[in-house]
Amino acid sequence: MNTNAIFENNKNWIAQKLSKDPEFFTKLAKGQSPEFLYIGCSDSRVTAEEVMGLEPGQVFVHRNIANMVPNTDLSSMSVINYAVNQLKVNHIIVCGHYGCGGILAAMQQADLGILNPWLRSIRDVYRIHKAELNAIVSDEEKYKRLTELNVQEQCINVIKTAEVQKASNERNLRVHGWVFDLESGKLIDLKIDFYTILKGITEIYKIDS
Ligand code: CO
Repeated sequence: MNTNAIFENNKNWIAQKLSKDPEFFTKLAKGQSPEFLYIGCSDSRVTAEEVMGLEPGQVFVHRNIANMVPNTDLSSMSVINYAVNQLKVNHIIVCGHYGCGGILAAMQQADLGILNPWLRSIRDVYRIHKAELNAIVSDEEKYKRLTELNVQEQCINVIKTAEVQKASNERNLRVHGWVFDLESGKLIDLKIDFYTILKGITEIYKIDS
């Protein structure tokens, strides 16, 4: 496929949107008030809006390799700040996926240059949960479990931010951890217990006074 085909697609998409709603782009241009912040992997197979069945305007999206939320990453921190403080989203979703190349790379011994510090945050997740992960015999199962635990730890990183701590006191904001299963197309809710985690990390990570 060449890039000309993409502009052809775009024309068709505009026509399709307008045939359903002649005001579609007028409304779109007026502004956004999405209810969800989605933090997912850059993987081309895990499209945020499409797998969730959401339309333009419904979800604020941040994607990077392996859906990470490192606390010194200006990009993800800015996205959380804007989504929580300005857009006033009440649901923050961290969505990983099975078959994630980032997770797999972090499980292998290889010097990947600039990717090393990024993937090291995944290795840190492994270290925190080493006992559980090392007890899993099957490599496939271990890979899956690390994917889930990484989502959980990134949810915790979201909860560590001042914005989320403050908003969860003032309104009904919650953080969700999901995994997308490429083989079935299913979104799986890991049922992260937001309030218990928030309570549990308060002693060390409380910022909001
Ligand atoms: Co991935």
